[in-house]
Amino acid sequence: MPPPAPRLRVRLYLWLDRWLQRWVRLFGVLHEGFWLGCLDPEDLTAVTIRSFQQSCMYSGREHNQSGLFPWERETIDRFFRPGSRILVAACGGGREIIALHRLGFQADGFDCTPRLVETSRRLLQELGISSNVTLCPPNDVPRELTPHDGLIVGWTAYMQIPGSARRIAFLRKLRASVPPDSPILVSFWVREGASADEDRTFRLAKWFRSLRGRRAEPLEPGDHVTNRGYHHCFAKEEIEAEFKAGGFRMCHYSQADHPYAVGVAE
Ligand SMILES: C[S@@+](CC[C@H](N)C(=O)[O-])C[C@H]1O[C@@H](n2cnc3c(N)ncnc32)[C@H](O)[C@@H]1O
Repeated sequence: MPPPAPRLRVRLYLWLDRWLQRWVRLFGVLHEGFWLGCLDPEDLTAVTIRSFQQSCMYSGREHNQSGLFPWERETIDRFFRPGSRILVAACGGGREIIALHRLGFQADGFDCTPRLVETSRRLLQELGISSNVTLCPPNDVPRELTPHDGLIVGWTAYMQIPGSARRIAFLRKLRASVPPDSPILVSFWVREGASADEDRTFRLAKWFRSLRGRRAEPLEPGDHVTNRGYHHCFAKEEIEAEFKAGGFRMCHYSQADHPYAVGVAE
């Protein structure tokens, strides 16, 4: 027997809810499209850093002493020489440095969020770990780095650097601090076929940028802005090409657990 037709008020609720969701989505597209088009890379980075500066999670003990994620641990075991000296770019509050030290590595780091650099220095001192952590401007690498044997770009930080050219310059500077054949681990989010809304947002953002003339840096498919800042979702080929331009050969790529890639310095 078919179920009885829902009462009028039930139908009214469902109808209004559908309309509300549509309007919310539409405003989401307009909001992100407008701001992604209007904000410069420096503005986008400022939103990102402000979010990390205010984050309780990244400056808290629990996260920073939680160790490596399983995929990070497997990658370190497989590609990094035991006991070697690792440079952690975008080390945040020190999570990777602390975990690496516990595994017998030596590790140093740098980050662009002042509060997180303070956190990592304090935690490392409390734990009696000897490590240099430097404050460095966003999208950049400290000038005078001592040589290291391996590189980690801290969890998803690579995708927070706006623009392919800036990311490649970042990789090239990191490349200068390691000898050939050294490993690098980079993690990110991927894009697997943009949704209709993502597509609309991107086209709208491109249009707003075009109104600003040639001085506005072009956007790239996969660029996003939220109240937590800028991020870029990658296609596998993009990571491979950026690795190559940055002086690394991609030797491993995985999306099984969390998307990440491993490169080897050329
Ligand atoms: C998701 S947190 C990861 C922190 C730490 N590696 C961890 O796993 O807990 C990303 C880090 O990237 C840094 N970051 C964000 N945008 C950046 C940029 N444009 N250039 C360099 N570092 C950036 C932040 O300061 C933050 O510490």
